[in-house]
Amino acid sequence: VNTNNTSMFHYWTYFAKGIEYTLIISAISVVLGVLLGTILALMRFSRSKILKAISVAYVEFVRGTPLMVQVMFVYFGIGIIVNLPALLSGIIAVSLNSGAYVEEIIRGGINSVDKGQTEASASLGLAKGDTMRFVVLPQALKNIWPALGNEFVSLIKESSIVSIIGVTDLIYQLNIVRADTYRGVMPVFVAMIIYFVITFILTRVLNYAEGRMKHAR
Ligand code: ARG
Repeated sequence: VNTNNTSMFHYWTYFAKGIEYTLIISAISVVLGVLLGTILALMRFSRSKILKAISVAYVEFVRGTPLMVQVMFVYFGIGIIVNLPALLSGIIAVSLNSGAYVEEIIRGGINSVDKGQTEASASLGLAKGDTMRFVVLPQALKNIWPALGNEFVSLIKESSIVSIIGVTDLIYQLNIVRADTYRGVMPVFVAMIIYFVITFILTRVLNYAEGRMKHAR
């Protein structure tokens, strides 16, 4: 007979720890993802055919394989050489994954700027680099910024896959609570609500920030 206290409130520290890990992984990964994605986008738009090819191949490959396999590959693959903590492996894998998606976001944002803008700048004698920096990028950012916010929200959900290598994120914790309480559904439901509350709040905050940025211009 299970004599534990099976109230979900009794296990709030488990869920809290899970939320903490989920947020840490997502927040660090979105920052690293944006850095990597920016580099990949620069390579993509560079004149060098080799850099371009590397960027395209990377993005295609990462987007064409499941995040779950990537997480396992990083953890067990690097594990052959050094024993990397699961959390670190998870952050690396999710960041590497996010970079590919961010490259697409940046590329899409830049391509969404009307060609006439570039042509007009060229006819005014603006150098290519200056055209990019002063004409195209400011307009592209309007599309890129909200999409990067969405990427953060995506990572909060998608990062749940790192529980497979034993990172103590929200999914991992809910499984512990399930085992401990013998309650099959309630911990899952609680985690689901927690995910929703986090993404809901984050979406509101991002929308608000976006609105402020529009007025600032
Ligand atoms: N779940 C999908 C996968 O396993 C999508 C991953 C999404 N990643 C992202 N950075 N938005 O590949």
